[in-house]
Amino acid sequence: MSSPNLYLIFVISSVLSFHLWILRSQEITCNPNDLKALNGFSNCLKPHVLGWNSSSVSDCCTWTGVTCDDSVSKRVVSLELGGKNLYGTICDSVAGLDQLRILNLSHNYLHGTLPIELFRLKNLEILDVSDNGFVGRIPEELHLSAIWYVNVSKNGFFGSTSGNLCNNSPHIKILDISMNNFHGQVPQGVRNCTSLQYLRVNGNNFRSLPKGIFHLLQDLKVLHLQNNSFSGQFDHSIGHLSSLVELDISSNSFSGVLPDVFGSLGKLEKFSAGSNNFNGTLPLSLLNSPSITSLDLHNNSLSGPVNLNCSTMVHLKSLCLGSNNFNGSILQSLSSCKNLTMLSLDHNNLDGQVPESFKNLKALTVLSLSRTNLVNLSSTLNILQHSKNLSVLLLSENFQEEEIPSDPSFQFESLRVLSIAYCELKGSIPPWLLGCNQLQFLDLSRNHLAGTIPTWFYEFKHLFYVDLSNNSITGEIPKGLTQLRALIVIDMKISMDEPSLGVPLFRTGIDGATFHYKDIWSVPPTLDLSYNMITGPVWPSFGDLRRLHVLNLNENWLTGSIPESLSGLTTLEVLDLSHNKLSGKIPISLAELSFLSKFSVAYNELNGEIPMGGQFMTFPYSSFEGNSELCGGTYVPCPVQHATIDEPTGDEGMTVFGPQFGYGVAAGFVLTVTVCFMSGWALPRKNI
Ligand SMILES: *[C@@H]1O[C@H](CO)[C@@H](O)[C@H](O)[C@H]1NC(C)=O
Ligand SMILES: *[C@@H]1O[C@H](CO)[C@@H](O)[C@H](O)[C@H]1NC(C)=O
Ligand SMILES: *[C@@H]1O[C@H](CO)[C@@H](O)[C@H](O)[C@H]1NC(C)=O
Ligand SMILES: *[C@@H]1O[C@H](CO)[C@@H](O)[C@H](O)[C@H]1NC(C)=O
Ligand SMILES: *[C@@H]1O[C@H](CO)[C@@H](O)[C@H](O)[C@H]1NC(C)=O
Ligand SMILES: *[C@@H]1O[C@H](CO)[C@@H](O)[C@H](O)[C@H]1NC(C)=O
Ligand SMILES: *[C@@H]1O[C@H](CO)[C@@H](O)[C@H](O)[C@H]1NC(C)=O
Ligand SMILES: *[C@@H]1O[C@H](CO)[C@@H](O)[C@H](O)[C@H]1NC(C)=O
Ligand SMILES: *[C@@H]1O[C@H](CO)[C@@H](O)[C@H](O)[C@H]1NC(C)=O
Ligand SMILES: *[C@@H]1O[C@H](CO)[C@@H](O)[C@H](O)[C@H]1NC(C)=O
Ligand SMILES: *[C@@H]1O[C@H](CO)[C@@H](O)[C@H](O)[C@H]1NC(C)=O
Ligand SMILES: *[C@@H]1O[C@H](CO)[C@@H](O)[C@H](O)[C@H]1NC(C)=O
Repeated sequence: MSSPNLYLIFVISSVLSFHLWILRSQEITCNPNDLKALNGFSNCLKPHVLGWNSSSVSDCCTWTGVTCDDSVSKRVVSLELGGKNLYGTICDSVAGLDQLRILNLSHNYLHGTLPIELFRLKNLEILDVSDNGFVGRIPEELHLSAIWYVNVSKNGFFGSTSGNLCNNSPHIKILDISMNNFHGQVPQGVRNCTSLQYLRVNGNNFRSLPKGIFHLLQDLKVLHLQNNSFSGQFDHSIGHLSSLVELDISSNSFSGVLPDVFGSLGKLEKFSAGSNNFNGTLPLSLLNSPSITSLDLHNNSLSGPVNLNCSTMVHLKSLCLGSNNFNGSILQSLSSCKNLTMLSLDHNNLDGQVPESFKNLKALTVLSLSRTNLVNLSSTLNILQHSKNLSVLLLSENFQEEEIPSDPSFQFESLRVLSIAYCELKGSIPPWLLGCNQLQFLDLSRNHLAGTIPTWFYEFKHLFYVDLSNNSITGEIPKGLTQLRALIVIDMKISMDEPSLGVPLFRTGIDGATFHYKDIWSVPPTLDLSYNMITGPVWPSFGDLRRLHVLNLNENWLTGSIPESLSGLTTLEVLDLSHNKLSGKIPISLAELSFLSKFSVAYNELNGEIPMGGQFMTFPYSSFEGNSELCGGTYVPCPVQHATIDEPTGDEGMTVFGPQFGYGVAAGFVLTVTVCFMSGWALPRKNI
């Protein structure tokens, strides 16, 4: 072979092997720029992202949450680190990932501001930084020409941006800036987001919408404006949003009449405008909307009759018109709404009785008719038992002074929540209750029910809330009431997955405050028999009710002593035994109740020394007053010679007092705050 040939072979083979080398290295390593960017990004996080390091494997394409494209240069195209418990900030270096299409850092503990460079990633399609602790402003201009999904919800972003959000990012379909601290006007620039289908700005402090916004967003399907500070008349031009499926404007300060534009919102399924100041009557187009499945207008000042036409509203499933000034014969107009599952009309001036035709409403699961001037409880129950799936039934503040029906054949086998309180009903606790074997919540308080508490309460497997207070009940407490399984079995917690009640449950606390609960699991386990004429002892077996939070036996004629076993009520927060005829000593063991925050034994015939330990140091004088032979603690000092006789008592008390005291106070406080927080706080009952 000639040397030129040899030379050629040499050149070819070198080129080939160089190519191979390049190919091999491309197989094992990601793009060096991306690698550098990822390392920079990771250095700002604590702890460093699991499994990410440069020293060993340099193929960042295999790292947790990283995806590369399959081009030769193996560029990083997606970074998905949602819910990875990441702490720290986002460094500028992330902008080095210039081929990035998806960035998902949601559900972490990231904080600080977002680097401005992030909003210049021209290939970015999805940006999800929701549910973190980010703060700062969103830049005035976004340069994200490929973006269609932006979610910055649940952070601390603020400012009133007038930004040109969409001028350089024209493809945004989904924009979620909910639950931040934005204020002022919803960004003007949103008007130019003509591809927008999904807009959530709820849970901020916005006061106004840009003018003409509804003329421009033709494709909008979901609009959430709730829980802001919007006010004034609601804009008629909403009628231009002909693609709208979901509209929520609740919890604002909108006023005036609802616009009669629902005829042009032919796809609207859910409309919520609760807790505003709307007045006037319901627009005809709304009462004849064939697409609506769920309509919530509760807590406004709407008035007039409600002539729903269910021949046209065929899809209506849920109707909440509570706390308004509606009057007349609403109920008759609902008789053909066979698909209704949830109906809430409480706090209106309905007058009359539930019509026979309600037997047609077979799908009903939730019915709230409290405070609607209804009469004829007997016929009401007779009709409603035809709704076999009825699970929540609230009828309080009606039927004044009627007799509670005692027909044992009533059948409510799906009933979980029953409230017929504040009705001044006569009669006794009805035998048909026993058939409600799914019962969890029973409120028959503030009636005139006489007779004894039936012995069969132990048969309820799920009952954890019993309020029979303010009646005229006599006789002893049946032991069955201390055998409620749902108050004994500690791990029989009410599942947090249970569907929301649909209507709030009310409870009046001992100090008159009204609590309301949205979910059954947030209701505190309670036995309230106060203000009756119950005699006999407080059974030691009450101590078995380990899940109980509230035990009120005050204002009765109970005798005997306070059982030591009550110390078994380890989660008890409220214990009221006041105004009875209890005698003997307050058991020292009660000092072990570390969650107890309200306690009263006032006006009994107790004697001896008040326990010194635990929460007992926090209870006021009024918890003990009216017991002339009681002494110690925050009450009157014990006579000196008396204390020496009772030495063991003092000693034990002292050993409990100490570290546990602080723990008890702290724990009691945390629990109370948690319960209040979970339950959605307490609002006073609306007075009409
Ligand atoms: C780097 O990665 C390798 C393998 O992925 C791992 O065995 C090693 O512990 C990592 N080093 C650090 C410091 O995280
Ligand atoms: C981001 O990640 C979270 C958690 O993995 C996930 O629930 C969410 O749907 C993701 N976001 C997007 C837009 O895909
Ligand atoms: C935005 O993120 C929040 C919290 O992660 C989530 O609940 C919400 O559904 C997301 N919004 C959209 C439009 O996907
Ligand atoms: C919307 O876009 C038009 C033209 O595309 C522009 O003139 C206008 O200033 C933009 N409006 C906003 C608020 O950015
Ligand atoms: C309303 O928004 C505030 C924050 O702006 C939030 O704390 C509150 O929980 C929201 N309420 C509801 C009912 O969503
Ligand atoms: C009813 O609406 C008013 C505002 O109109 C609000 O302040 C109040 O909290 C709402 N009440 C309930 C129980 O939602
Ligand atoms: C509704 O309220 C406005 C004030 O917000 C009042 O001017 C108007 O007369 C009211 N309309 C009706 C029908 O009550
Ligand atoms: C209810 O709707 C049906 C069908 O659209 C119509 O024929 C009927 O007249 C309406 N009834 C009332 C009272 O508006
Ligand atoms: C109930 O809803 C179904 C579809 O969801 C519909 O086909 C039917 O006509 C409705 N029935 C009544 C009586 O409204
Ligand atoms: C409803 O209330 C209005 C005004 O308060 C009254 O004029 C009307 O007669 C009432 N209608 C019925 C059926 O009670
Ligand atoms: C009652 O509930 C059951 C179970 O959820 C359901 O299958 C059934 O269709 C409901 N009955 C009616 C009349 O809606
Ligand atoms: C209650 O309603 C039933 C059935 O409609 C009726 O027969 C009965 O007379 C009513 N009772 C009273 C006290 O109005």
